[in-house]
Amino acid sequence: MSIKEVQNTAVDLKRREFLLRLASILGVVSVAGLLWPFIRALFPSAVTRAAGRPIELDVSTLTVGEQRTVMWRGKPIWVIRRSDSAIAKLLEPNQQLEDPESKLPQQPPYAQNATRSLRPDILVLVAACTHLGCVPTYRPDPHTLDQYWPGGFFCSCHGSKFDLAGRVYQGMPAPTNLEVPPYYFKDLNTLVIGVHASSRVSEVNG
Ligand code: FES
Repeated sequence: MSIKEVQNTAVDLKRREFLLRLASILGVVSVAGLLWPFIRALFPSAVTRAAGRPIELDVSTLTVGEQRTVMWRGKPIWVIRRSDSAIAKLLEPNQQLEDPESKLPQQPPYAQNATRSLRPDILVLVAACTHLGCVPTYRPDPHTLDQYWPGGFFCSCHGSKFDLAGRVYQGMPAPTNLEVPPYYFKDLNTLVIGVHASSRVSEVNG
């Protein structure tokens, strides 16, 4: 073999080695690219984690009849302070409601009562109609929708009506009562939305 041939062989070997290295690097990069969405799904971003966190609200500043909307997990949540007369009306039996005793699991067990709440005066509801998800309007005053309207929530998308505990009336497009999210009171006025009190105890105990 001539010197030239030896030199050419050496160059070919170097080129081959370079191409092999390049191919393996490209292989690693493309596998990482394919796996990246799965890796991201396993480790959600700080923004995503923050969006799922419980939120706190001071209810001491809520006036009677006032409605406030907060966002939790991308959903609007209503917090409303009901009047004594509204509470009294909810405690009366109402045969026009679809599920007056809230037997369907649309609320945590501690909200399975006539007011569908931990405290009769404070109502916490997911602001999404159980028909197709429109946001109903809050109409607490009687006769503001029609002469029979007792006060409650009205979904203008397809006409579903709910009482002031979010219980749906019979014959409405919405099949169930409005949803009550998990929540508890950290103290007299601090409402925590997004977690049950029992979950908090287990979190604390580890
Ligand atoms: S979405 Fe509310 S009645 Fe249809």
